[in-house]
Parts: sequence; C-alpha cells; structure tokens
Amino acid sequence: MSKKTYYITTPIYYPSDKLHIGHSYTTVAADAMARYKRLRGYDVKFLTGTDEHGQKIERIANKKGVTPKAYVDSIVEWIKDLWKIMNISYDKFIRTTDDYHEKTVQKIFKKLYEKGDIYKSSYEGWYCTPCETFFTERQLNDGKCPDCGREVEKVKEESYFFKLSKYQDKLIEYIENHPEFIQPQTRQNEMINNFLKPGLEDLCVSRTSFKWGIPVEFDPGHVVYVWVDALSNYITALGYLSENDEEYKKYWPADVHLVGKEIVRFHTIIWPAILMALGEPLPKQVFGHGWLIIDGGKMSKSKGNVVDPKVLVDRYGSDAIRYFLLREVAFGQDGNFSNEALIQRINSDLANDFGNLLSRTVAMIGKYFNNTLIEEREATEFDEDLKNMAIATVDKVEGYMEKLLFSDALAEIWNLIRRANKYIDETTPWIIAKDESKKAQLANILYNLGEVIRIVSILIYPFMPATPKKVWEQLGIKEGNATTWDSTKVWGTLPKNFTVKKGKVLFPRIDLKVELEKLEEAQKKSQKESVVKTEEKEKDNYISIDDFAKVDLRIGEVIKCEKIEKADKLLKSQIKIGDEVRQIVSGIAKHYTPEEMVGKKVIVVCNLKPVKLRGVLSEGMILAASDENGNLVLASTDKDIESGAKVK
Ligand code: ME8
Ligand code: MG
Repeated sequence: MSKKTYYITTPIYYPSDKLHIGHSYTTVAADAMARYKRLRGYDVKFLTGTDEHGQKIERIANKKGVTPKAYVDSIVEWIKDLWKIMNISYDKFIRTTDDYHEKTVQKIFKKLYEKGDIYKSSYEGWYCTPCETFFTERQLNDGKCPDCGREVEKVKEESYFFKLSKYQDKLIEYIENHPEFIQPQTRQNEMINNFLKPGLEDLCVSRTSFKWGIPVEFDPGHVVYVWVDALSNYITALGYLSENDEEYKKYWPADVHLVGKEIVRFHTIIWPAILMALGEPLPKQVFGHGWLIIDGGKMSKSKGNVVDPKVLVDRYGSDAIRYFLLREVAFGQDGNFSNEALIQRINSDLANDFGNLLSRTVAMIGKYFNNTLIEEREATEFDEDLKNMAIATVDKVEGYMEKLLFSDALAEIWNLIRRANKYIDETTPWIIAKDESKKAQLANILYNLGEVIRIVSILIYPFMPATPKKVWEQLGIKEGNATTWDSTKVWGTLPKNFTVKKGKVLFPRIDLKVELEKLEEAQKKSQKESVVKTEEKEKDNYISIDDFAKVDLRIGEVIKCEKIEKADKLLKSQIKIGDEVRQIVSGIAKHYTPEEMVGKKVIVVCNLKPVKLRGVLSEGMILAASDENGNLVLASTDKDIESGAKVK
C-alpha cells in the first residue's frame, strides 16, 4: 500500500538583505509539521523558497551596481544557510528565477489568456514599491500606502488583467462550504466580510515599466506581475504542466499553505481564483498565523527593529529558538518577542523542567545502580497516575498537531515533564535509596522516569530535532523500536535493565542580567555590520559594465528634419541608423534649425522605450550636452564613421 501524502508549504521569501527572526517563524512551524507527519508515516513534501522578481529587487540591485540575479543569488545563499542552521528539513527549495518555474508560469499565463480569463487593458493606480502592491485611490490611507505608510507612486501603463471579479461568487460559495479551508476561523470571516462581499476588482497581472520578471511569452514587452508568478510556485515546484507531472498528481492539492496573516488574502482569494480558472483543485487549507511583534511593531527590516536569527541560534542553539517560537505564541495570534522572554523560557522550561528531569534521573541511576538498572520491580502508589498521564499526553499532542496548535501541544508535553518532576518529589528516591530492601521499588521509580523521558524525547522531536539524540545517548537507547512515534503509546518499551551514560547538560542555565547585555551587544554589532554594508554600497553610485552595455548607442545620420507645430522646443528628425530609418523627437529647436540638422551625424540611444511627445512618436533619443547657462550642443564623433556604428 502506498503511503498517505502530506504536502506543506511556506510562502516564498522576498530576498531582503537580512531575514529576521519573524521570518523564520513560518518556516519553523512548517518544519515542525513536516517532521511530525514524517514521524506519523506520511510521504511528506515540504516546500519553501524565494520570491525573486519585481521592481523592488531591480531597483536595489541597480543601486548596488549589480545585476538583479547576482543580488538575489547572494541573499538566497544566506537564506539557505539560515535554514540549515535552523534545521529546516525542506524537501524542495524553489527559486522563482528557476528555469522550470519561469517556463511553467509562461504556460499558466497563456492558458489563462486563451481561456479569456486574462485580458489586455490599461492600468491606472498607485503603487507601493516596498510592498509590491497596487492600490486604488480609495484604498490609500491619507495618500500613503495603507500597509506600510510610505509614499506611493502614480502609475499608468498598458497591462494584462486577470478576471478576478468573475470568481467572486464561486469563492464565497466555496469558502462557506469548506469551513476548514481558511484557518483560523476569524480570518475566514475577515476575507468574506472585508474583501469578498464588498466586491472584487480585476487584478493587474503584467507590467511594462520594469524588466526583472518573467516575460509574457506572447507579448514580450510585458513581464508577469507578482502574484501569478509567486503563487504558482506551489504547483510549478511539482512539475505542473511539465513533461513530468508525477509529483503534481501525487501531492496536489496541498494539505496546507502556511502563511503570515498579511498574505492570507492573496492565498485565499487570488490563488483559489487562479486555480479555478485553470480547472485545478484548491489547496485543502490556508493557515494564517500571527506576527511576532517587537517594540510594539511588526518586526521589519525597514523599521530597523530586526532580530538577527543567526545571532540567536549562535548563542542558544536552534532547538531553543524553535521551542521558543512555537511555545511562546499561540499559532494564529500575534505575540511579543523579547530577549528576556526568550531567556526566561530557556531557563524555566528547558534548563529547569526538562534538563533537570533528565540529569537527575541519569545521576540517580548512576549513583544507586552503577548506571545499569536491575530487573526487579516493586510498584508505588504514584505510578498509575504518571503512566496514565503519559499515555493521555500523546493523545492530546496528536489532536493539537492536527490543528497546528503547536503551543498547546508543547504545553501538554511540559505538563507531563512537570508531572514527572513531581513524581520524584512524591516518591523520594533519595530516601528509599537508604533502605537496601527497597531496591526494587527504587528501580521501578527510576524506570518510570526513564520511560517518561523517552516518550517526551519522541514527542519533542518535531519541534526540537537536535535534542532527542542527545537524550537517547544518555538513556543508552539507539534509534529504532524505542524511538518511533507508536512506541510512545506502549508504556514499558525501554529495556528493563537499560544503561545510562551521563552526558553534557542539555540546556545550560543562563544568567539573565549578564546575558541580556551580551545579547544586546551582539545584536547591535550584527545590525551595524549590515547597515554599514548597505551604506557603503549606496554611496558609490557606480553602474557595472553590464549595466552600461544595456544602452544601445549608435551613430545616426539625420536625413530629414522639421518643426513640430505648436511645440516651439521640439524638432522631428528622420534618422538613418544602418539600414533602418527612425523618427526621433528632440527638445533642441531653440539651438538648431531643421536645415542645420540635415546631414549631421549624431549619437542615438536606440533601445529607449518609444514614447509619444505631443502626439508624435519618438523612437529613441539624440545625445546632447548642456550646461547651466542654457547652452546645448549635439554630441558627435571626432572623425566621420558609417551610420549604424556602435558607440561603446
Ligand atoms: O510575503 N512575524 O514574503 P515575505 C511573523 N514573497 N511572521 C513574519 C514576520 C513577523 N514579524 N515577518 C515576516 C512574502 N513574516 C511573499 C510571499 S507567497 C506566494 C509570496 C512572515 O518575505 C510573513 O508573514 O515578506 C510570511 O509568511 C513570510 O514571513 C515571508 O514573508
Ligand atoms: Mg511581507
């Protein structure tokens, strides 16, 4: 029998200079779920990646004097490294600049166009570059971006549109008939009441004002604009519309898309509408989690309140950070991030509750049994309660995991840990140890503690994948029958006479005051480093040779020239460039007469986007030099040369 499949995704990340701890939130949650499902025997596909196109990237790269691809390459490396140190077990990392993705997005675009769900029109609106979002006039907040509060730009250009409005009723119907589709429930109401019911506008899906995107195959001046490119990653990654779509058939529809709350709208309205238009099934669930808040605001690079995840992992290990992220905040709600809260959790939950349980148990087995437990047993009155609680905990954890309630699952596991610590206090092994006749009872107590630790070590694996092995080493068990998920339900799986081996302290206690200062220093240093780097790059306004090579400069010969009516500054010239004749409008009428112009050899920018000036088409630009006194002269060459010759 083939295994049940489980397909889980994170959003694809914008390659920003540095991701912060808030970004790792979605990925850590997805990883916990992927690991849990693998443990439960599923054939899991866990997808993450990067969202690399768009005007914002193009602009930053230009500013830094590198190509957009070179710019994103370096950041993607940084991101992959972050996932590695955070133990993220993704099965596939997709980049929207990957060849197969670009090809499939072109096919998707074409398919939607041929179906009549994409049409050409012109777009007029406001655009927020940092958020990569268009807004209509009424969506603006005091004339500023309603999401980030920054300045927006007015844009008007020819664009393709996706008929989102056509799917409004179908979407409402679908959401109402599938209550599990949008989770948590509150987000579902928000989508219906705030977005779907008021009415959907068609969606701009192509742009002509920048180049860094996937070209529309049948209209190459256009690049596919953000959401069709980005959202499609969930299916292009599986080979949708490619020669090999086996994985698509196997894993689609996704079991869950995990996303932050600000992008729930795109995933529960635009994405399902695209899928409906393609005639493909919708994902089973979109789960919108809350934000990690720091200093009262959403953590964000542009606000400067970034917490560098690498600094944190470096100091406390990835398991502690993963634990904190998933325990501190109920998944779905916003939660506060502070260094103090992090350190306190490490001290109380990890060092104290769990670390102590293990080290006390191992130490006692060492001291009273010379590391190897005897097989004789004598029960105590406290045993049943502990066993029952262990078994019940597994049940509860399973229930919570199905609902992605990570914090609740961890809370249950820690209740069990605390119960086991209480069991030590109840049974007082250090007193029993003084009575030689109670050896069997002592062995029973320590065995039960060992069992709880074993069960806990398996339950925490999805959240803290590096810790279980360390625990198993101390309990003297190997990965195998005693470490499977099902074995958590079988009390007594540990060998009766198991041998412990004292190991390192799992989570050393941290001195809060001292550490807070050190941590702040480390974070400041990391922030400074990244800020300095960008400042330096922004100071030099260099462009690379590749950038310069993009400008097609050629020698042209003016063969005809005339004034433009009612435009006293403009001349309209016919210019021969090699075999071709072009019309160019220039603002030089105050400096040159049409007669003077004819016969001149000038330098022309040939690949400038054609524009209409006073209703007259201009296909390029003639180079001229001007000074502050209002003088203007045409640029020319030192000696005569053929028209069409390249200037470089
Ligand atoms: O939105 N707390 O990418 P992104 C919690 N490329 N989660 C946070 C967070 C915080 N402070 N800051 C960011 C994009 N995130 C698009 C997605 S999907 C087809 C395209 C989360 O890099 C955020 O909510 O801005 C999102 O889930 C993820 O990080 C990536 O955000
Ligand atoms: Mg974002």
